[in-house]
Amino acid sequence: MDRRDLVGRYDRRVPRYTSYPTALQFRAVSGDGWYRDWLGGVPGAAEVSLYLHIPFCRVMCWYCGCHTRVAKDERPVQSYVAALRREIALVAEAIGRRAVVRRIHWGGGTPTMLSPGAFAAINDDLAQHFDLLPDAEHAVEADPRALSDELIETLAAAGVTRVSLGVQTLSEAVQRRINRIQPFEQVAAAVERLRRAGIGNLNFDLMYGLPAQTTADVVATAEAVAALSPSRLALFGYAHVPWMKPHQQRIREDELPDAVERLDQLLAGAEALQTAGYVRIGFDHFARPDDGLARAAAEGRLHRNFQGYTDDPSPVLIGFGASAIGQMPGGYVQNAVGIPDWQEGVFAGRLPVAKMRGVVAEDLLRREVIERLLCDLQVDLAPILAEHGFAPAHLDECLQGLDAPVADGLVVVDGRRVRVTEAGWPFLRTIATAFDGYLSSAEGRHARAV
Ligand SMILES: C[S@@+](CC[C@H](N)C(=O)[O-])C[C@H]1O[C@@H](n2cnc3c(N)ncnc32)[C@H](O)[C@@H]1O
Ligand code: SF4
Repeated sequence: MDRRDLVGRYDRRVPRYTSYPTALQFRAVSGDGWYRDWLGGVPGAAEVSLYLHIPFCRVMCWYCGCHTRVAKDERPVQSYVAALRREIALVAEAIGRRAVVRRIHWGGGTPTMLSPGAFAAINDDLAQHFDLLPDAEHAVEADPRALSDELIETLAAAGVTRVSLGVQTLSEAVQRRINRIQPFEQVAAAVERLRRAGIGNLNFDLMYGLPAQTTADVVATAEAVAALSPSRLALFGYAHVPWMKPHQQRIREDELPDAVERLDQLLAGAEALQTAGYVRIGFDHFARPDDGLARAAAEGRLHRNFQGYTDDPSPVLIGFGASAIGQMPGGYVQNAVGIPDWQEGVFAGRLPVAKMRGVVAEDLLRREVIERLLCDLQVDLAPILAEHGFAPAHLDECLQGLDAPVADGLVVVDGRRVRVTEAGWPFLRTIATAFDGYLSSAEGRHARAV
């Protein structure tokens, strides 16, 4: 089957499965009582992960799909930091003891928008309320266009072990169209300064499917940044959702690559990174073979959470900040998305949750099947069904849903074993939808698969 037919059939609007059920299934809640109960019930022996959301940027990249806004001056950031610090204390109080922390991730937006003093103050609060393991992974998303030496020193002093740099593309023609001018030299200088400060684990975010971007651009960017030898790279397909992100209307739709071009860009970018020595992980990540993510993938320990692919095994992820999502053994929680609502809740002494989603046995079963498929590109249903207490034939109807991709050579089904082929990996998310029990009600509201 040629590429045009393939994308016609399988490049659908499907979830990214950073949770299951997905965020579209979360429901509005009033009050924070049940979240307090969940936090109070976190098992004493559990190692927890923390996520801090910083929803500010200096200027808006027109493709951006993140929960962020432009801060013209320091005032909104300062009042946000004050609320974040209060939220950390509230959550710690609800847990009722010093929980052990294995991971910290600062995302956004642009966490490196924070002043060194604000970053250090929040970090000190974390150390005051939690037991941070000495070998904890501590990661920060950074914008290489604005990364001061003072902030880099602060990150190093705070024990940050990994920095993820937004690169996207090195094509100047594309950069102009996305309102993000960022020469290669700026990226290389940020890498050099971070390494000099002792932060050696670096990730780059790259994108394909941007306006006027060509396959040659994607390959040239991949090759140039691979020469800087980051430990991981992500290659994200541009998700064009202007109905959700109005600033994306500034991107000219007639300049966007079509579905076949997007597939070509993904395949060529992936090949360039693999040729440069990176191991392909899931549908959008690449890692050096000695990196923790590659090792986890090789050993079947890879997971998916709200940060995408991760080697973090913790069943408890606590989110701080507006829009932050948390994952607990009982289900998911999301803070109020709007900064004023979130802030008002915090300053009134409430956990500022707006949505939640409890998980039932069927969700846990399907979540594990989808996660294994997205992480390992294969899944054996039998042991998972047995472990979750379901009959062996419980998901057979889902297997029948794979008849078309099997006939098209994207999937091999052997009994209750499912394996995605090399031709199938770009459509991994579409294939995983066979096991999604909620999709029909949500289809069309996601970004496309490739
Ligand atoms: C929070 S940002 C990274 C840090 C920092 N704000 C920066 O841009 O340099 C996370 C990443 O999400 C990706 N991203 C943002 N909007 C996207 C979209 N609409 N579709 C696909 N990926 C997107 C970009 O690769 C971006 O680097
Ligand atoms: S991509 Fe990063 S810097 Fe650009 S607007 Fe989004 S969060 Fe901000």
